[in-house]
Parts: sequence; C-alpha cells; structure tokens
Amino acid sequence: MKTVLVSGGAGYIGSHVTVELVQSGYNVVVADNFSNCDRTCFEGVQKILGRELPLEVVDFCDAAASDALFAKYHIDAVIHFAAFKAVGESVADPLKYYGNNLESFVNVISAARAHGCNNILFSSSATVYGETDKLPVTEQSERQPATSPYGNTKQICEDILRDCVKAYEGIHGIALRYFNPIGAHPSALIGELPRGVPANLVPYITQTAIGKRECLSIFGNDYPTPDGTCLRDYIDIVDLAKAHVAAVTRMVDGRMKLDYEIFNVGTGKPVSVMELVTTFEKVNNLKLNYRIAPRRPGDVTAIWADTAVGEKELGWKATRTLDETLASAWAWEKKLAGK
Ligand code: WQD
Repeated sequence: MKTVLVSGGAGYIGSHVTVELVQSGYNVVVADNFSNCDRTCFEGVQKILGRELPLEVVDFCDAAASDALFAKYHIDAVIHFAAFKAVGESVADPLKYYGNNLESFVNVISAARAHGCNNILFSSSATVYGETDKLPVTEQSERQPATSPYGNTKQICEDILRDCVKAYEGIHGIALRYFNPIGAHPSALIGELPRGVPANLVPYITQTAIGKRECLSIFGNDYPTPDGTCLRDYIDIVDLAKAHVAAVTRMVDGRMKLDYEIFNVGTGKPVSVMELVTTFEKVNNLKLNYRIAPRRPGDVTAIWADTAVGEKELGWKATRTLDETLASAWAWEKKLAGK
C-alpha cells in the first residue's frame, strides 16, 4: 500500500481528496496547522471513512517540523495544498502570501527530497492563465502575468516545482490547474467552510439562501458574453478530488511521460453567473435574493478548460452534473445550519 501525505488535508479540497485516496486504497497522512480551517472537515472525513486517520498538526513554514514528518512516515507521494487562498487579502498583505505559500512549498520539496519521496503534486489554479481570448485554455496556453500576489504564488510554485524536477535526479512533479471547484461531498459531511464573508460565488449563494447574507451581488451584467455575466468552468469537488487520485497513481506507478506534467482540471463547459444562479434556484426549488452590482475589479470575462489532455493522459473526466453539484452545495449549507 502506498502512502500519500496530504498537506492542508483538513481544508476544503484536501478533505475531499483524502476521502477519494483512502477509498482508492491509499494510506493517507493528513497534515494541517488549522490556521484557516477548523476540525469539522477532518472529523467528517473520518465519519465518511468509518475510521480514524493519522493527523499531524504541522506548519510547513517550519522546516524542521516538515523534515520530521517525512522522517516519521514512509511517504510515497505528497500532495501540497497547504496555502493561503484569498485573492483580496493577498493584495492587501502580499508578504503574508509570499512568505507562507512559497516557504511552505520549498520546505515540503526539501523534506521530500531528503527522505526519498520523489513524487510531488502541486495544487495550482486556472488563475495562472489570466485574461485570454483563446478559449478554451489548454495546458500549452501561455500564462499571463498574475493579477494578484495569490495568483503569483501559484505561478512561482509551479516554476519552483519545474526547476526542482529539472535539477534533482529522480523527482517527479505534477501541477493540477483547477478551474472553479464547487459543491460538497454527497454525504454532506464535508464541504466548503469559508471564514467570514465568502469571496466565492457558490458559498455566497448558499449563505444567502439560508439567510446568513441578505442579498447576492452579481458582479456585472455588461460583459461581452451571451447573458452579460462572466463565464467560468465550475468543477465538482468530488470530480476534482478524483483527478488527484488519477494523477498520484500515474506518478507512483511510473507512468508519467515527462518528469514535470501539467493538467487542467475542469469540465470544459462554460457556465455564466446568471445560469449558475438560476440552476441553483431550479434544482433546490427556491428563490434567491440577488441584484446586479458593478463589475468586481480583477475579474476576467471568461475562462474554461480544454480537458482533452487530462482525459487522455489521466483517464479522468468530470461526471457530476451541475444540478447534482449545486444540490450538494445546498445540502451541505443546510447541514451546517442544522436544518
Ligand atoms: C466566480 C464568478 C464573479 C461572488 C477565484 C480565484 C481563483 C480560485 C477560485 C482559489 C465571477 C462572480 C462572485 C459574488 C459574483 N482559486 N461573483 N458575486 O474569481 O473565478 O476565481 O476563486 O482559491 O484563483 O481567483 O471565482 O467564485 O470568486 O467568482 O457575481 O458574490 O462569480 O464575478 O464572475 P473566480 P469566484
């Protein structure tokens, strides 16, 4: 049995990935410092799996602690999620982002290398593509200059991984570029738990529907798109988690074609903000309080994935429908509210 270390494994994406890895036959060590999440999702993961998992409370900015973790377990692959992720906060406090997101990744790679763990998977983002008219974006599409320090840390971490793979014999790296992950596990035991006012669309929608927020603002309806609202590629969180299992398996089975590979993780289907809102209303049989607001600075008009490479190389494809995903997001919000 292979062992995978999931850094940031108690967070939104990490907890769903942990479930899928264990259900696919991997040993998983979850590591998190709980700086941006509580124990809810980790407990939910254990409930779904019906057993306890090893949990290490580690800050990967602590190089000695990172090293000790790799010394304690025999790790075959590491998936690195541990990072700050709020775009706006990164603009206000760039050093917090450069300090944490870069240092932790450098420490993870160093510790992995020192202990013979050669397989490193990095959680990147479609944000690296920026604004482009050539849609859908392929893995070969040129990266645009980052529009926020957060986005820049994703680009720099990709480069760090690429350079380490090139320099250090034996190391393999995969960067998965996520589009917009949404939804929750069908069990409603784990899901997204934003702190404070949500910055992302779907948690804002579910919190408005439950009555925690008064009204959803739709940021701009004058974009050059069919209904005037922005287009995104919303990827179900369980589908996204399964892409990680496929990527890790490709690595540990020695099936990579290049030592450093990049894959888009999306559905390949653009969905507008308005379409997402009306689909949410339809599948959950409710009316959402919303209004049209000015554009949000920094938003790109449209972005969606070309998924051909991932389908061919990872043998992975998104399968959950938008209806199912939005129903799962609502089930999770209701569960949180005790309804
Ligand atoms: C989606 C659409 C908004 C909120 C960001 C990061 C990216 C990533 C995921 C993170 C846009 C509109 C939103 C609201 C709205 N990674 N919207 N009202 O901006 O595509 O991507 O999150 O960890 O790196 O940049 O996602 O969910 O914020 O927005 O109208 O209250 O919904 O304008 O068109 P985005 P989002």
